[in-house]
Amino acid sequence: MQVESANARSFENDFHATISKISVNAHTMYTARTFAFGNMDGISAKQLDIHIKLYEGYVKHVNLIEEIIAAYGKTTDEGGKYSLAEVKRRLGFEFNGMRMHEHYFAQWEGTPAPIEGAVAEALSAQYGSMDAWMAEFKAVGMMRGIGWAMLSYDPLDKRFFNHFVADHELGQLNSTVTVLALDMWEHAYMVDYTPAEKAQYIEAFFKNLNGKIVEARLP
Ligand SMILES: [Fe+2]
Repeated sequence: MQVESANARSFENDFHATISKISVNAHTMYTARTFAFGNMDGISAKQLDIHIKLYEGYVKHVNLIEEIIAAYGKTTDEGGKYSLAEVKRRLGFEFNGMRMHEHYFAQWEGTPAPIEGAVAEALSAQYGSMDAWMAEFKAVGMMRGIGWAMLSYDPLDKRFFNHFVADHELGQLNSTVTVLALDMWEHAYMVDYTPAEKAQYIEAFFKNLNGKIVEARLP
């Protein structure tokens, strides 16, 4: 299945190009990305379409929250202060929802390939083997609750974490880099799999994974 547009850009290239030149834009409006998926196996076009629309909702709400913050930012009214507090609390949910989905979909662009190179070497060194790392990562994916299985890299202490992020914001590890992001919300797989078939969804996720994109995330 192919979902792309003439102006589809590689999210990963764009992401790294953007963060390489630090800039501040007080009026940034986020735009939903498009993704050039390969021939997906085990993830249907309908599942992808529904999920992409949900992702676009996160982008829309990040922009909406920014507008509301601007509107209430200088309020002295008590009600306005509560409104400001609520949207400030919601920003982490919406922003991380946007960015995590971009990491998730980008992993399926191009041609499926195993994770190799420096990432595989470092994971094997830390966990004993790639199989041992994979087993722990999949176990995080099988955890009960709505959230994400994440592989993050801590550049300060040069080590990885397999960890669970509830919703999009609870359990994020500050200053780490996202290496692999697996959406385990039920909306991510319920078109194709039942909750009892979560393990099959995880297998499909890895079957379509482009390991080259994962490898490029290691700083
Ligand atoms: Fe999702």
